Amino acid sequence: SFSPCGHLVYRKGTMDVRARFFVLLCLIGLTCAEPVKFIDCGSSSGKVSIVDITPCASQPCRLERGQSYSVNVTFDSAVQSQSSTAVVHGIVAGVPIPFPIPIEDGCKSGIQCPIQKQQQYHYLNSLPVKSEYPAIKLVVEWELRDDNKKDLFCIRFPVQIVN
Ligand SMILES: *[C@@H]1O[C@H](CO)[C@@H](O)[C@H](O)[C@H]1NC(C)=O
Repeated sequence: SFSPCGHLVYRKGTMDVRARFFVLLCLIGLTCAEPVKFIDCGSSSGKVSIVDITPCASQPCRLERGQSYSVNVTFDSAVQSQSSTAVVHGIVAGVPIPFPIPIEDGCKSGIQCPIQKQQQYHYLNSLPVKSEYPAIKLVVEWELRDDNKKDLFCIRFPVQIVN
């Protein structure tokens, strides 16, 4: 029999519990933060599990100029480290451009230092999008380096800067 919602029902059936939960949250108008799809660019001292950018209703995240976004990277450390330093780049047409963030010290961004081996951390920071940035698509590369300048995490995710 004909069902106008057949496709939707089929798609819903393939969604996992977490995805359904997010759809429900979106429908009732609450927070709509789905984990961001990222690629790992060489986290040699750790392993990233979840990246959250808030607000980011749809992906790639649309970042409004003059706004600030919160970033939450959940990762497991594979090393011990006294320090952690964030380095952020915007990659435009293959060229990495330094992207300044207010707090570079990871130990002041939700991480209790010294970092222990085999422990999970939530790295929390904000991504300020300056009004003078051009409205373009780019890839954000976010690294957090340990004492030996190796990456506790290195992630890349696409964003669209909008007005
Ligand atoms: C960061 O993300 C993790 C995993 O989704 C979550 O458990 C934690 O509550 C988040 N922390 C904040 C401050 O949002």
